[in-house]
Amino acid sequence: MSIKLNTKYLKSFVGENEIQGMAAQVSAAHNLIETRSGLGNDFLGWVNLPTDYDKEEFERIKAAAKRIQKKCDVFIAIGIGGSYLGARAAIELLKSPFYNNLKKDTPDIYFVGNNISPTYLSEVLSICEGKDICVNVISKSGTTTEPALAFRIFKELLEKKYGKEEARTRIFATTDKARGTLKELSDTEGYETFTIADDVGGRYSVLTAVGLLPIAVAGCDIDKIMEGAKKAQEIYSKDDGNDCYTYAALRNIMFRKGKAVEMLVSYDPSFTMMAEWFKQLFGESEGKDGKGLFPSACTFSTDLHSLGQFIQDGSHIIFETVVDIKNPKQDIFLENDKENLDGLNFLTNQNMSVVNRKAFEGTVLAHTEGGVPNVVIEVDRLDEENFGEIVYFFEKACAISGYLLGVNPFDQPGVESYKKNMFALLGKPGYENRRAELEEKLK
Ligand code: PA5
Repeated sequence: MSIKLNTKYLKSFVGENEIQGMAAQVSAAHNLIETRSGLGNDFLGWVNLPTDYDKEEFERIKAAAKRIQKKCDVFIAIGIGGSYLGARAAIELLKSPFYNNLKKDTPDIYFVGNNISPTYLSEVLSICEGKDICVNVISKSGTTTEPALAFRIFKELLEKKYGKEEARTRIFATTDKARGTLKELSDTEGYETFTIADDVGGRYSVLTAVGLLPIAVAGCDIDKIMEGAKKAQEIYSKDDGNDCYTYAALRNIMFRKGKAVEMLVSYDPSFTMMAEWFKQLFGESEGKDGKGLFPSACTFSTDLHSLGQFIQDGSHIIFETVVDIKNPKQDIFLENDKENLDGLNFLTNQNMSVVNRKAFEGTVLAHTEGGVPNVVIEVDRLDEENFGEIVYFFEKACAISGYLLGVNPFDQPGVESYKKNMFALLGKPGYENRRAELEEKLK
C-alpha cells in the first residue's frame, strides 16, 4: 500500500483505547455503506466506481482527449465545485502547478465557470485570442449558474470563430445522462457528451468523465488512476481497522475533544489544489446540522510564515493532518560553496528534499509540543496510481466520518441558500416575493 497512516505524533493526544473505543461505531458506519441503508444511500455510486465504471465511455474519454490534444492549443474546462476541483487538483499534482508554462505537447488548460468575476473571465478570453480552442462544459445538474454563464460566452466565441459545424466538434459536455438544461442543449446542438451517473454526487465524481476528460487531456494516464483507486477500493472494503477507517475515527475523536478545525498540510505546492478538493469533499459532506470539523489547508513551509504563529500558539481549535510525500518528483543537489558568505554550508552536500524533510520533522515536533495533534498520512510518491488511491482514501474516510457524525454525507442543502438569494436579487422569474424581502433588508 502506498498510503500509510502514521499515528506516532498523536500518542500524547489520543490513546489506543480511544481508537478501539470507536470500533463498534466504525463498523456500524461501514455496514451502512455495505448494506446501502444509511442517509443519502442513493449516492453511493462512487463506492464501486473503480471496478464498475462504464468501460465503453472510458475508452471514449481517452479517444476524445487524443482528438482534443491534436485540435487545440487551449482547452477550457468549465465547471464549479465537484465539477472542477478534482481535475485541477490532479493536473497540478501529477503534472505541475506550472503546467501551462511548461514545455509540453498537450494543450494549455484553463478552468473557468468556477466564479462570476468578469475580470477573471476576460483575462482567460484574452489568453485565447489567436489560439485554437476546445471546450469541456461540466455540470451534473446542468443548471448551475456559474458554468452556464461561462459556457454561453465560450459557445458564442467558438461559433463565431469556427462556425456552428466546427464549433460543435470542439465542444464536449459532461452532464447528467437524461436531465438538465445542459443535456437538452447538448442533444440539440449535437455535442459529444459524457455522463455522470445519478448515484455519484458532484464532490465524489473526480473518477468519472467529470475529472477524467480534463485529466487525460493534460496527458495523465487515467488507466493508472483507476488502478490505484481499485487497489484502495479493495483494501478499504474490509472493516479490519484499515488506515482509512482509523483516520475517519481519529477525525471524530478530535471533533469530540473540541477541535473545530482540521488543517490539511503538505510540504509541496503541487498538493495545494488537492487540498481545495479535500476542503469541498469534507466541508460539504460534514458541515451540516450545526456539526462538523471546518476543513482548512496549509502549504508548508510557505504558510509557516503566515499561519504558523497561530497554529503553534493561538487558540487550540486545530488539529493537523499532514500529507507526507516521501519522494518528490524532482530534487536539487545543494553544492558546497567555498566562501560560504551566506553561512548556508550546513545545508549542503545533500538534496534539497532533505531540508524540506527536516522542516517537516521540526514542525511536527514543535506543533505537537505546542498542543496541536498531528495525524500523518504517508504517500510514497505523486503518481497516477497514488492519486487514484488518495482520492478513494479520502472519499471513503469522508463517508465513514460523516456517518460517525450522524449526518448525511452526500447532500448539500446549505449550498442552495445563497443561490436562492442571488436568483431573487437578479430577478429570476418565480423569486419575486423573496426579491422584495431581500431588497428591503439591503436598504
Ligand atoms: O458536490 C456537489 O454536488 C456540488 O459542489 C457540485 O459539485 C457543484 O455545485 C457543481 O454542481 P454541478 O455539477 O451540478 O454544476
